[in-house]
Amino acid sequence: MTNVISQTRKAPPVAMVIFGASGDLTSRKLLPAIANLAKEGALDERFILIGVARTPLNDDSFRDLIKKATEANQNKTLDTIIQNARYISGDYSKSETFDALKKILDETQELHHNNKLFYLATVPEVFIEVACALKANNLNTEDKDTFTRIVIEKPFGRNYETAQQLDKSLHDCFLESQIYRIDHYMGKETVQNVLALRFANAVFEPVWNRRYVDNIQVTVAESIGVEHRGTFYETEGALRDIVQNHVMQVLAITLMEPPPVVDAQGIRDEKVKLLKSIKIFSPDEIANKVVRGQYTAGQIDGQEVPSYRDEPGVSKDSKTETYLAMELEVDNFRWAGVPIYVRTGKRLKRRVTDVVLTFQKVPHLPFSPTFSRGLRQDRLVLRIQPDESITLHFGAKVPGPEFKLQDVTMNFSYKEEFKTTPKDAYERLILDALMGDPTLFIRTDEVQQAWKIVDPVLNGFQEDLIPLAFYQAGTWGPKEADRLLRASQRGDWFVS
Ligand code: BG6
Repeated sequence: MTNVISQTRKAPPVAMVIFGASGDLTSRKLLPAIANLAKEGALDERFILIGVARTPLNDDSFRDLIKKATEANQNKTLDTIIQNARYISGDYSKSETFDALKKILDETQELHHNNKLFYLATVPEVFIEVACALKANNLNTEDKDTFTRIVIEKPFGRNYETAQQLDKSLHDCFLESQIYRIDHYMGKETVQNVLALRFANAVFEPVWNRRYVDNIQVTVAESIGVEHRGTFYETEGALRDIVQNHVMQVLAITLMEPPPVVDAQGIRDEKVKLLKSIKIFSPDEIANKVVRGQYTAGQIDGQEVPSYRDEPGVSKDSKTETYLAMELEVDNFRWAGVPIYVRTGKRLKRRVTDVVLTFQKVPHLPFSPTFSRGLRQDRLVLRIQPDESITLHFGAKVPGPEFKLQDVTMNFSYKEEFKTTPKDAYERLILDALMGDPTLFIRTDEVQQAWKIVDPVLNGFQEDLIPLAFYQAGTWGPKEADRLLRASQRGDWFVS
């Protein structure tokens, strides 16, 4: 089997400084991604990895931590990176931490050529503290021959107001062009493939509008619960955790206008325009257009799982939503009148993320109703994960003497076609940040516009305008969510 997707890009010499280096994100995502990039030749031996965290480790124990997290992917470049890796144990509020960082960066300058990527794999509460300390130590500067970038992970604020404050403070320390906000959904191959499908082909775009599309569904379903993150999730909920970011990004890519060029400005300008066209709910609409749910005990893959309220760190009378469904409208020429249904939830039946475009009925069906009873509206299913694929569901004649019709499918499977499975999103995004390509990162105006859409729903929760519906773990969510589609005679949620 040949791998047709080969790595051809190589990052320049750089020091990558990970704040929160002893944490879960670093071991689970960042270090494995770095190991893969090293293996594929995208990093060179002058790549300096510096870990910073409060946990008392030293250079050697940090190197052991890297080895453990990258066991599956040993390679020669990675060995050198591990040998050169350094660790600073310190508090982000103490100047000694940043003095030590400066010292290491000075000592290793010949290798990294003063190119720096600061990665904040920390809790959001310390973003500003770290960014300001970097500025105070003159570590935020760049010139025409060097670069300095800062990567931050969501959550970007807790609502529109705090997101604005966060960006204002960040902009006091770094230029917007230096800030790389990660939404890992944008790093998923299949999300990028939506761009290819829409804009590299002549057949799809002409029907990608209100004249042909009856409704759109976006599902981000997870079978996992809140795992060890109960305390964090309690203050987060599905709306902040998934909808404000991942769902909005997937929607924007699916519904936006074609950009003049697929580059950072082209894509992000169009995404913002689309987000600005999403209708903001009025308080009266919220109760009819939004469903929030929470899982009770149930079974997933034959295993008993506890209710959300029985998860560690969760309050016994918690009202945090582990499920959210909404009906959105896009007020523009292309999509006016097409309902956009989105849903996301934890402890649902299966892990699946897909975008489903259901096309309108034919104006007249010239076949016997008896034989076309089972026929459904045509559908295009963009499966983001797992089993990454694009499937067209349409009607065909069943072989035989009668003109009997049945739904059939035409399928493109990423794995079968390219003989590979998509890389982890972090690998792509870390390399883009190292190379200075912000196309797949989220710009400040996108974050803020997404909050403007989500804020009225958060207020609706606070004011109890939306009752909390319960659903059993291992099902597809609360029955109340079906009402959203049925109210406008749109059938059911798509499940394949
Ligand atoms: C994260 C959320 O952003 O995305 C998690 O915080 C969620 O709660 C995860 O589980 C889902 O990502 P993926 O790539 O598994 O769909």
